[in-house]
Amino acid sequence: MNQPTLYSKRLILQPAQSEDAVSLQALWSRPEVRRYLFDNKDVSLQLAESVLNSALDCASSGYGMWLIYQPHQTELLGCIGLMPAETAAQYEPTLAGLLEPIVALAVEHWHKGYANEALAKVLTYAFETLEQPSLCAVNDVPNVASERMLKKIGFTIVSEVQGPEYKLRTYLLQRDKSSAI
Ligand SMILES: CC(C)(COP(=O)(O)OP(=O)(O)OC[C@H]1O[C@@H](n2cnc3c(N)ncnc32)[C@H](O)[C@@H]1OP(=O)(O)O)[C@@H](O)C(=O)NCCC(=O)NCCS
Repeated sequence: MNQPTLYSKRLILQPAQSEDAVSLQALWSRPEVRRYLFDNKDVSLQLAESVLNSALDCASSGYGMWLIYQPHQTELLGCIGLMPAETAAQYEPTLAGLLEPIVALAVEHWHKGYANEALAKVLTYAFETLEQPSLCAVNDVPNVASERMLKKIGFTIVSEVQGPEYKLRTYLLQRDKSSAI
């Protein structure tokens, strides 16, 4: 199945296209976004294209990357990915084979509940339509915003392991334990 457009109360989640690389590079280059998502490294266009291409490779399986907009607006609020947890599984092998949601919003749109809303939509889609029995998540331990977002929606901690830059906290959410569906 192809990756669909998803709609929530205030947001439209639009499947990413290859021409979105420049917009995503601009989002991912924001200091508050790249701090943990890219271990604070520069996000070149080449890196953005490479991440985007990995997401586009998943689109025919129904997941990948969505761009987050408000209806009838062209401003990019952020993005949400649903991708195999390949990098995380290098540090926590029990995550291998699971899909992992990752949310990033432009800082002026933090604290409006948008991450929670977009994540809830993608979790419902992953559990109900893709029939995933469970999903995983990972954050750098100092990333308090991500931790609160994940716990609020029901993810529970699996482990803490040493990551490339910071300690990583890993999480699981099972379909039958999710309040998102
Ligand atoms: C993580 C992120 C998506 C949260 O976005 P958001 O829209 O502000 O989150 P929401 O408004 O839906 O709030 C979710 C919870 O996170 C909390 N939160 C959000 N930003 C926070 C911050 N800077 N510090 C502490 N808590 C924060 C909210 O208070 C809320 O919890 P609560 O209702 O228990 O108070 C956003 O901070 C971001 O884009 N960060 C940069 C990218 C990133 O690191 N992503 C995570 C990768 S795993």
